[in-house]
Amino acid sequence: MPKKLTVTSIMKAKGSTPLMMITAYDALFARLFNPIADMILVGDSLNMSFAGKPDTLSASLDQMIYHTQAVCSGAPDTFIICDMPFGTYKTSEEALANAIRVYQDTKADAIKIEGGKRKADIIERLTSEGIAVCGHIGLLPQSVRGEGGYKVKGKDETNALALIDDAKAVEAAGAFCLVIEGVKADVAERVALAVAIPVIGIGAGSAVDGQVLVFSDMLGLYEPFVPKFVKQYLDGAEAVKAAVETFKSDVQSRAFPAQEHTY
Ligand code: KIV
Repeated sequence: MPKKLTVTSIMKAKGSTPLMMITAYDALFARLFNPIADMILVGDSLNMSFAGKPDTLSASLDQMIYHTQAVCSGAPDTFIICDMPFGTYKTSEEALANAIRVYQDTKADAIKIEGGKRKADIIERLTSEGIAVCGHIGLLPQSVRGEGGYKVKGKDETNALALIDDAKAVEAAGAFCLVIEGVKADVAERVALAVAIPVIGIGAGSAVDGQVLVFSDMLGLYEPFVPKFVKQYLDGAEAVKAAVETFKSDVQSRAFPAQEHTY
């Protein structure tokens, strides 16, 4: 059976083994993740960890397309989702034109859009044109300035019910799955139970249908800030710095290049 998941197999995965999604921004890492990941997200988080910006808001569609092309080259056997950057899906027609660009210029399997109920019309327009859409509800990084920071959601019953409504609206609009970010675990569980599409959590506890992490966070490569929900599976920053230190001292001592590295 081919490894690559499809919209259908992802939807069928609801209620079975949780799905693993990881971000990637280039072919180098995508190639490493290709045999392992269920889904790769080319997240606009690249604007922070790759481009060094303070938030995701200045990522452009051209940048997302460039990085998605690279990830698709590196991970041909993995279902790839391209994040639609801030300001590229304000209306249905704008979203459709930009999503069509993503499909025509890359091999992405799907696009992701932040926003629940208020984006349902847009999601419906895209899915009715044959575009696979992953929703994104809860903490919305593209709303960071509007909300005055990254705010955990689901802290009261009114907000919990609003999140359930968001998920149902995204599902009814035809999304094949949904990312839920920065939500109290018990509320995320209620959201996952309320819809038939897989709900992939980030900072949303374990009672959902899968987990996504930003690769540079989980590999310990991004030093400026480590959110509470991140598990670092590697001390990547220390490993890289130690290797580069050793290279420098080898250069200075002329231990590198040795005979085996010399023509
Ligand atoms: O941009 C991104 O990496 C994301 C994840 C945080 C889900 O949207």
